[in-house]
Amino acid sequence: MAESFTTHKQLPLVGRTRELAILLNQFEASLSSGLKIILLPGEPGIGKTRLLDELATHTKEAGATVLVGGASQDEGMPPYLPFLETLGGYIETCPLPALETQTAYLAPTLVTILPELAARLQIAPQTYQLPPEQARFRLFKAVGDFLHNISRYTPLVLLLDDLQWADPASLDLLGHVARYHQNASILLVGTYRETGLKDNPALDRTVFQLNRLHLPVTLPLKPFSEAAVNDLAAQFLGMALSSEVCAQLYTQSEGNPFFAEELLRQWLEEDRLVNTGEQWGFNATLGGETALPASIASLIDQHLTRLDEKVIAVLQVAAIVGRAFEVSFLANVLGDEPEAIEGKLLAAVNAGLVRPSDPNWYLFSHDKIREGIYAQVSSFRRRRLHGYIGRELELQGDLENARTCENLAYHFVRSGDRQKGAHYAWLAGEKALAACALTGAIAHFRSALDLLDPTDSRLAEWLFKLGETERLNSQDHAALATFHRAFAHFKTTGEKLGQARACYELGRTYWRLEDLKPAQQFLQQALDLLESLVEAGEWLVGVLVELGSLVAMSLNRQSEGLVYAYRALELTRHLAIPRLEAAACRVVGNLLARTNKIREALPLLENGLELARRENDLVEASECCACLSLVYFWTANFHQFMEILQLRAALAEQSQDTFQLRHVYSWQSLGEIMRGRLDAGEQLLNKTQKVVDKLESPEPKAFLMQGFAYINLFRGNYAEALELTEQSIAIFREVVPDNLCWYLGMLAYFRHRSGQDEAGVLAVLEEVESLLEPIDPASLVIADALTKIVPVALDRDDRDRVRKYYAMLLPFSGLYVDALVDRILAEMEIYLGDFPAAIRHLEAAETVAVIQGIMMEAAFSKVARYKLLLRLGNSEEARQNLTQAVKLFEDNGIKGEAALYRSLLTISKEENVPAKTAFPAGLSPREVNVLRLVAAGLSNRQIAQELSLSEKTVANHLTGIFNKTSCDNRAAATAFALRHGIAR
Ligand SMILES: Nc1ncnc2c1ncn2[C@@H]1O[C@H](COP(=O)(O)OP(=O)(O)O)[C@@H](O)[C@H]1O
Ligand SMILES: [Mg+2]
Repeated sequence: MAESFTTHKQLPLVGRTRELAILLNQFEASLSSGLKIILLPGEPGIGKTRLLDELATHTKEAGATVLVGGASQDEGMPPYLPFLETLGGYIETCPLPALETQTAYLAPTLVTILPELAARLQIAPQTYQLPPEQARFRLFKAVGDFLHNISRYTPLVLLLDDLQWADPASLDLLGHVARYHQNASILLVGTYRETGLKDNPALDRTVFQLNRLHLPVTLPLKPFSEAAVNDLAAQFLGMALSSEVCAQLYTQSEGNPFFAEELLRQWLEEDRLVNTGEQWGFNATLGGETALPASIASLIDQHLTRLDEKVIAVLQVAAIVGRAFEVSFLANVLGDEPEAIEGKLLAAVNAGLVRPSDPNWYLFSHDKIREGIYAQVSSFRRRRLHGYIGRELELQGDLENARTCENLAYHFVRSGDRQKGAHYAWLAGEKALAACALTGAIAHFRSALDLLDPTDSRLAEWLFKLGETERLNSQDHAALATFHRAFAHFKTTGEKLGQARACYELGRTYWRLEDLKPAQQFLQQALDLLESLVEAGEWLVGVLVELGSLVAMSLNRQSEGLVYAYRALELTRHLAIPRLEAAACRVVGNLLARTNKIREALPLLENGLELARRENDLVEASECCACLSLVYFWTANFHQFMEILQLRAALAEQSQDTFQLRHVYSWQSLGEIMRGRLDAGEQLLNKTQKVVDKLESPEPKAFLMQGFAYINLFRGNYAEALELTEQSIAIFREVVPDNLCWYLGMLAYFRHRSGQDEAGVLAVLEEVESLLEPIDPASLVIADALTKIVPVALDRDDRDRVRKYYAMLLPFSGLYVDALVDRILAEMEIYLGDFPAAIRHLEAAETVAVIQGIMMEAAFSKVARYKLLLRLGNSEEARQNLTQAVKLFEDNGIKGEAALYRSLLTISKEENVPAKTAFPAGLSPREVNVLRLVAAGLSNRQIAQELSLSEKTVANHLTGIFNKTSCDNRAAATAFALRHGIAR
């Protein structure tokens, strides 16, 4: 039977769709145009036999006779074995009449090699005595004709496995069939190991002859992709693998399905895999390396037994050097001539164990093979050899090369020299870090630390470096563990400064995770420790900067934060360290800006950026840009805002700190959205998504959701918009409760715009108000919240609230806080009847909107002007403004607003709505018009103006509307209008 590695149950075929398609295609072709031959070379275990099985199943279903045979490497096998297998089976099962016809006059010849035939046909075995050449030809002809005859009954598929072991006679027979039966409906598929052509001259010759006849299609089987390995594993285990297991499996198996299956089997046996109910993960309690699966070991043994002992000795040393090895290096280690080594390697190449790669270099054909040979060396000898190789490498190697350092670490560790192992692992880590390979760097740093003597003076610095790298790689929780370790270390040594540094790093890391309580505690602890130290200046600045920012920004205690910030700035005056000065300037500037002292903030922030850039401190510069961008945003300098964001993105990308990127694109997106470019905005949000997915902190996810909510709102997808807002608020509420006031106003606005019930809107309004209560009236968060809730109060015709909010918002005139404050003020003034003020504010807003290209504001200003002109009795011009606003919204795909205001344009003072149109809830055309104006946020007075009615009549209409629609307030009526498409 065909040699197969395994006797386990067969899994459904994974991958190989292209190969199978080609095979089936050739089968089809053989039906009409005769013999087709396909050769499938591939390394052991790659799935040659499996593919033959699959082909057999398919072609059998298609009605073919499928004959399977294979060569064997066992000694003493008869010649023609593949054919004996194929035909022997056939003869035993074929119905007698058919068999008689197919064999007919061939039978006497065939029985010389196929005794089964004699038995079935009940004829005497023949022993012809012909000269050998003649006998051979007669036999070939008989077998060929027999096969041809079979193919006349049903299409014939002949599968010959493992031809690398086929005897010359079988291969010649194969060549004969190919040459003389080209018009038979036969598909012939042969597999062999890729080394087969070198190992078996007869195969080489046959393949060469077939190629000369242009007969075969050669289809080398390649290793599986990672995805295919993953599929295979899922089939094998009935469930998917965790990404960690999958990556390991792929690396270790190198895409070889046999190795993959054996590894999985081994891991299961060793309880390395645990089933979480959804997937298979590694059992965290088991560490270390696993033994080589026995099946792989025995395969390697098979190969080795046929090799000379001297070859094996070379391979053993090579296996200790590594997967790839250089001949001259090996020669040095072995104290032999390179030519001699090369000669021995040739034998190993022929056995398929190694293969030449770069000039002078060789490679084990699979790492599992190297591992198997490695395992055969005694541990004592291994240690010695590793040490020897390490020292040799130290002499010859290029220590600037990261790979060399890794190798050195590898060998010294295994030689038992932990000192040198740690040293080189650390170096390798630094090299990786310099090459921006963070994950690799972290792995090296960790192994260096594992090897380091606990009393070594480098321990603490190494821990800090590891923690920083982990944090840079967004592995915040791992970083926390590392810094905690550093802290514990300094606790035992009693070093205060070290403790303070560890506290500082812990505080920063907790803060990144929005874990504010420990963040503040550790920063405070760092501050306390440093204050008792004379030499603390430098660190003190860092701690004050972080603490000030945290208290002011995350806990919303602005003035308290400023105290820390000013202290930091004061300190830097004495220290004259530009990097620190940049940070101090940045934090003071940032906090001033947040309390509406923008004029003072701007020069500080600009100075900070300048210093940080001069110092080439990418992260600090990026932080400065973040603060500056907000200042430009708030002062409605949209051009500068977008420009500085671009710089920030570039700096953050360069710094490699994903954390720095968490909000950049979202802000850019907001800029694009406000300029009316929803698609560009959406693309940027998608970009953010990728960044945010890598982070452990939930806050940036919530921030991102808000961006998507805005896009949905403006596209008129109110339900999605609201859903996203609700979700993001839930996250903010959970992780940054002290900062909720920045976000909650949005919820009121979105609930209102989505036509949510009165109570839901009111509850949020009240919560926002109570959150704002204790906050410094100059804090920008007040303006930020108000720009969201003022429109709600206006739409609700809530005069008391509008009055109250107006007084709160007035100090922020001239700013942009998600909306132009002047425009919002104007809307309130129109509502309250202060027209001169409204005109002033509106003109200011219109100018800024146009100059800065803030499309949204330009459009909303036109809506405001429409309302103003209505109040002033100039409805003709009012309508023109509304038309322009609608056009702006429509041109920019702001579907929600466009629909809302377009419906107003269809309203006429005369009731020219066709009377026949049936409106929902039995509303009259006049009532529909009133309702549309209500939904667009006009007050009764404005509606009266617009429709040339008295306010009282409007009120009466409203009562009628409320009754018919079973609503008891404007918000509910607006929701009704939106639901029934009246307002859209
Ligand atoms: N495409 C595949 N889908 C599923 N299992 C596969 C596939 N290819 C190979 N295998 C499995 O891998 C192992 C080795 O495959 P095999 O066909 O015996 O390799 P080869 O004949 O090339 O040495 C077998 O257990 C086989 O079932
Ligand atoms: Mg096989």
